[in-house]
Amino acid sequence: MPKEFTQKITIPALQSKKEKKEKIVALTAYDFPIAQIVDECGLDIILVGDSLGMVVLGYENTIPVTMDEMIHHTRIVARAAKKALVIGDMPYFSFHLSEEETVYNASRFLKEAGAAAVKIEGASKKRLKLIEALIEAEIPVMGHVGLTPQSIHRMGEFRVRGKEVNEAQKIITDALNLEKAGVFSVILECIPLELARIITEKLKVPTIGIGAGPYCDGQILVFHDLVGLSNGYLPKFVKKYADLYEIISNAIKRYMKDIKAGNFPDDRYSYHLKSDVLKEIHPKK
Ligand code: KIV
Repeated sequence: MPKEFTQKITIPALQSKKEKKEKIVALTAYDFPIAQIVDECGLDIILVGDSLGMVVLGYENTIPVTMDEMIHHTRIVARAAKKALVIGDMPYFSFHLSEEETVYNASRFLKEAGAAAVKIEGASKKRLKLIEALIEAEIPVMGHVGLTPQSIHRMGEFRVRGKEVNEAQKIITDALNLEKAGVFSVILECIPLELARIITEKLKVPTIGIGAGPYCDGQILVFHDLVGLSNGYLPKFVKKYADLYEIISNAIKRYMKDIKAGNFPDDRYSYHLKSDVLKEIHPKK
């Protein structure tokens, strides 16, 4: 068996990390060079999130993201990821019409894009049946509860979910139902840490938190938020480890200044003709 294949992070490996209380580290990525860096750093999971819409494609939210856009970017990431488990995010309206269409769309992430699993938001009765159908079709599924950005128009705003008794109980039930339906992991997004702790203790499968405190089995952030490449609002739960926006912007400004001042390209960055060739093509009078 090729070495790189045996080194791949698998779904059972994630489960065993939960059992051994080893933290699972996940990050989003959407293109080749970044996926390569993330993979070489040794992360367990690369999620090609539909956050693609906001951080890469310039949409206002995740709603407009299409299946074709997700497949295109997942394929690029899967090409770069030698070790990490690549998960493709099912975009809005790729799993809303019928079971058949949902299974077909999800299968594209595995067959065309090279992902190992899909993520799907929500845990309604209908969604749970779809998840069962996906698993029946050998498509591993990651669940996602708490703040589910594809419900933005119904929810009205992005805010912490599960602060009140009813909502907290519903999120616990949703997570348990997802586990019963067969998901291999559940994303807990933007919920109080106490609630995330309860869910993490109740579930056998690993929880991966984003804005859900330290007690989850693993953590995920959006790559562009972590490295400071997004220029807009950052939620409280994002820890910015670098300011790439500033670094890139400074580099571009220095490039612009150099060109305007005639300092770039100088001799170091230019090629020369041999003098005999020069003489031949442009003899001095
Ligand atoms: O789309 C995404 O990047 C996500 C993560 C924030 C979990 O769903």
